Amino acid sequence: MCGIVGAVAERNVVEILLEGLKRLEYRGYDSAGVALLSPNGDFSRVRRTGKVQALADAITSENGVGSTGIAHTRWATHGGVTENNAHPHTSSDRIAVVHNGIIENFGELRTELRDKGYTISTDTDTETIAHTVHSLLDTNDTLLAAVQEAVTKFSGAYGTVIMDREDPSRVIVARSGSPLVIGLGVGENFIASDQMALLPVTRRFIFLEEGDVAEITRREVNIFDVDGHPVVRDIVESTVEHDAGDKAGYRHYMLKEIYEQPTVVRNALAGRVSLEGLTPDIFGENAETLLRDVKHVQIIACGTSYHAGMTARYWLEQYANVSCNVEIASEFRYRKSVVHPNSLLVTISQSGETADTLAALRLAQELGYMSSLTICNVAGSSLVRESDMAFMTKAGAEIGVASTKAFTTQLGAFLMLTLALGQHNGMSDEARDDILNGLQSLPSKLEETLSLAAEIEDLAEEFADKHHSLFLGRGEQYPIAMEGALKLKEISYIHAEAYASGELKHGPLALIDDEMPVIVVAPNNELLEKLKSNVEEVRARGGIMYVFADKDTAFESDETMRVINVPQCAESVAPIIYTIPLQLLSYYVALIKGTDVDQPRNLAKSVTVE
Ligand code: AGP
Repeated sequence: MCGIVGAVAERNVVEILLEGLKRLEYRGYDSAGVALLSPNGDFSRVRRTGKVQALADAITSENGVGSTGIAHTRWATHGGVTENNAHPHTSSDRIAVVHNGIIENFGELRTELRDKGYTISTDTDTETIAHTVHSLLDTNDTLLAAVQEAVTKFSGAYGTVIMDREDPSRVIVARSGSPLVIGLGVGENFIASDQMALLPVTRRFIFLEEGDVAEITRREVNIFDVDGHPVVRDIVESTVEHDAGDKAGYRHYMLKEIYEQPTVVRNALAGRVSLEGLTPDIFGENAETLLRDVKHVQIIACGTSYHAGMTARYWLEQYANVSCNVEIASEFRYRKSVVHPNSLLVTISQSGETADTLAALRLAQELGYMSSLTICNVAGSSLVRESDMAFMTKAGAEIGVASTKAFTTQLGAFLMLTLALGQHNGMSDEARDDILNGLQSLPSKLEETLSLAAEIEDLAEEFADKHHSLFLGRGEQYPIAMEGALKLKEISYIHAEAYASGELKHGPLALIDDEMPVIVVAPNNELLEKLKSNVEEVRARGGIMYVFADKDTAFESDETMRVINVPQCAESVAPIIYTIPLQLLSYYVALIKGTDVDQPRNLAKSVTVE
């Protein structure tokens, strides 16, 4: 979603800002802009729709000079994708603002601002920040004080950076609902919505907390909490790889991330689980005590992370004997729900900043859950900081909008949680051994599964001209079918639906014809015979099927069915293994269709607005 970069330095910051924006491109955006201020107050602003490269091409030696600057990539919410709506926004040629989030009361603010004589010249909510701050400069001695008063007037979410033409020595930043991180340099300081943007210039970061307002100059960072009191926040040394944003020779980030899965899963398991069992305290210092009494798990997430939660429900109930509900965060947060006794709340998120998941966590914290655990990929993210326990998935930076390695590491985390809860709830030795053996061999099985790439690339040719598709699975493979359908639709724009295959005859069977490819996820488990009956139902109606199956299932290719043999594996890890061919299928279909694989249209990597 939107991205922010800012800098206060002695040198010209334009290249730092442009590089930062490029490093945030993966988040999804539709326009970009930069505003620069020189020590003598010279001000320039350049904005373009489309890619950051279009902005970079428009920068010249005249308009590209400034030692203080703010820059932004915009993902349109209020107002269309136009240059006029692109950030930074200004007020009276004095105040310039970039903003992530949504100012929900922008309508009332506009009315008040018009009454004060301001002209509203964009369709955005952000413009009201610029005019509100400007209007408060009359009654406040400093820009900092004006911003501190301005934020009391905003409802909604913001991560914002504000620059004053009359004081080029500083920027003021404010965070509520949208993350901001300060980067500390030597004689220069930075601000961004994501540390990725600043890794070329620093590895020392301060993650702002909710309600913080900060003043950043070249030599100082002064932070004030929600009540206006000065506070000291921890400085964190980043462990994120500087080159995490490189494609490492792969054509797309998504392909790189698909191929990284054996390695990142190996890293995620290392030191946490072995054939002997779980290492104590992997969920945190007090986790042993907290998890011992858990009798119910409530999982909340969005998108791919929700599919990981759906899969976990099968595992927690089948192996750990713990009841489990899973809900989409945007639904959970707006309905009254009943909290089961001894209930653990689990949120899952790659980014740790998904607005709905964060809001659901905050709501749940008031409802009486025993404790909260987040399974997350980004250290220092809001979900990690606000949950009682955090379990890091260690997938490394995921740049492709379509989530791949984050998902498989989330599933690995859930198998570890299943073991942790199962040991207090009568998990059978057989189930425990299946999970431990499955996890032990998982990295090598993932490698083996990736060798299906050429066969799947060939199969993708048959898909590229289709407009619709159906994904079928049963049991814990049903969420994997859902994840396969989500991947295909988000990067190839082919309409894809997933069904629990037992549901076919209750409606979707009416869709079957030879223009509707049907993808079946068919490992060798106790539901195989049921699944085979569903396959026959499709075949009898002239459907064309693509079956991903273990060779012991005895599915055989013929004129209406193409079978792709997936490596045999322990039953517990089969959902992780069967995810791989579906990721590859969507990737190769998108490649043939020529869509933007890493930044699909209309989508953002981190969904920080609801
Ligand atoms: C999946 O490919 C998508 N990028 C999307 O569904 C994503 O999983 C969802 O927005 C949740 O994001 P999170 O894991 O960062 O919370």
